[in-house]
Amino acid sequence: MTIAQLTWDYSDPRTGTSMPAPFFFDQGVFNEEKAKIFMNCWHVVGHVNEFSKPGDFVVQEIFEQSVIVMTGRDGRITAFHNACRHRGNRLIEERRGNKVGVIRCGYHSWCYNQDGSLRAAPRTENLQNFDKKDWGLRTVRHEIFAGFVFITLDENARPVAEIASGAEAEMRKFLPDLDNLVLSSETDVVVDANWKVIQENSIEGYHFDLSGPVHKDLAALINFEGYTLTPYGDWWTYIGPPNTGAKEAYGVPLEGSTWQTDWFFNIGIFPNTTFYSFPYTDMVGVFVMIPLTPEKSLLRFGYYTPKDRPEPPVTKAAIEWMNTQLGPEDIELNVTNQKGLHSFGFGAGKYIIDDARPNQSENLVHHFHTLCYKAIRE
Ligand code: FES
Ligand SMILES: [Fe+2]
Repeated sequence: MTIAQLTWDYSDPRTGTSMPAPFFFDQGVFNEEKAKIFMNCWHVVGHVNEFSKPGDFVVQEIFEQSVIVMTGRDGRITAFHNACRHRGNRLIEERRGNKVGVIRCGYHSWCYNQDGSLRAAPRTENLQNFDKKDWGLRTVRHEIFAGFVFITLDENARPVAEIASGAEAEMRKFLPDLDNLVLSSETDVVVDANWKVIQENSIEGYHFDLSGPVHKDLAALINFEGYTLTPYGDWWTYIGPPNTGAKEAYGVPLEGSTWQTDWFFNIGIFPNTTFYSFPYTDMVGVFVMIPLTPEKSLLRFGYYTPKDRPEPPVTKAAIEWMNTQLGPEDIELNVTNQKGLHSFGFGAGKYIIDDARPNQSENLVHHFHTLCYKAIRE
């Protein structure tokens, strides 16, 4: 049997088996996911406040595609392909920055305005049939959702607000400073695991007090009995009320601190965007698992904090703790999990879904797998 013929019955997660292992390492599946999920979905680029001045830009790679999102002279955001219209040269290599004046191609010096229109092309004045108006950078659709800029390569994609209907209201309940954020830092890590292996790990509470020591520290900040994992179609939440008895968090005393929320708040939007806040932190995290190859992903951890409040020591400590402790503890699991998936002794696993323990359920893992499967096979 080839992988194209491999099917999975997702209808009953309680009696059935989990998504078969080859879906997590097969090149054919990966190609299908690229074409049917990532070329059609919305990709989070950054917060609108990163685009406050003309020339502010962020570059987003989606497989071999590269898109520039930039603020024009009139303050409006435009997204366009990062490829010169002359011979296709890539224009900007940095992830973010500010382009004063023009975007100049390094090859033959075609210069584009901050809205992507072509301003100057040397030695073209005698060409026939050449009008600069026709040679601006090709635009890409963008939308603003919950204070963040999203792009899609699909002209016909449904709006983010429609795909994630209800998600913004849920975010605003827990993250009151959503419009008032600035980027504090961004950390990229390349992980030897399929992007879905990384997603699975983040959307279940089963491993919290069963895996490594850092997870137990996080669990101690949450009233874990109240942890709830809820699917809403193309988005989902996993939310835990605070342990109100906590005196310190991430090694720092809580007294005198400020926070967006004392809850452990997470919201995922299919396929690979997560917004979250750790308990007692004054930040909004953006966690994205970007597929590179079937068994390699780029994890991008963006940390946003309120622009008119100093970052409290607890929040600083939480960001450091995520980068150096919790993140690595999960990444180690992602890597060992990926290796094990190849075993002749595995094949497919079992979802742990128990009505008596909804807080530790793997119901979202099944939900996510089902969305992935349907996207490529139905
Ligand atoms: S490729 Fe850009 S100016 Fe020639
Ligand atoms: Fe984890």
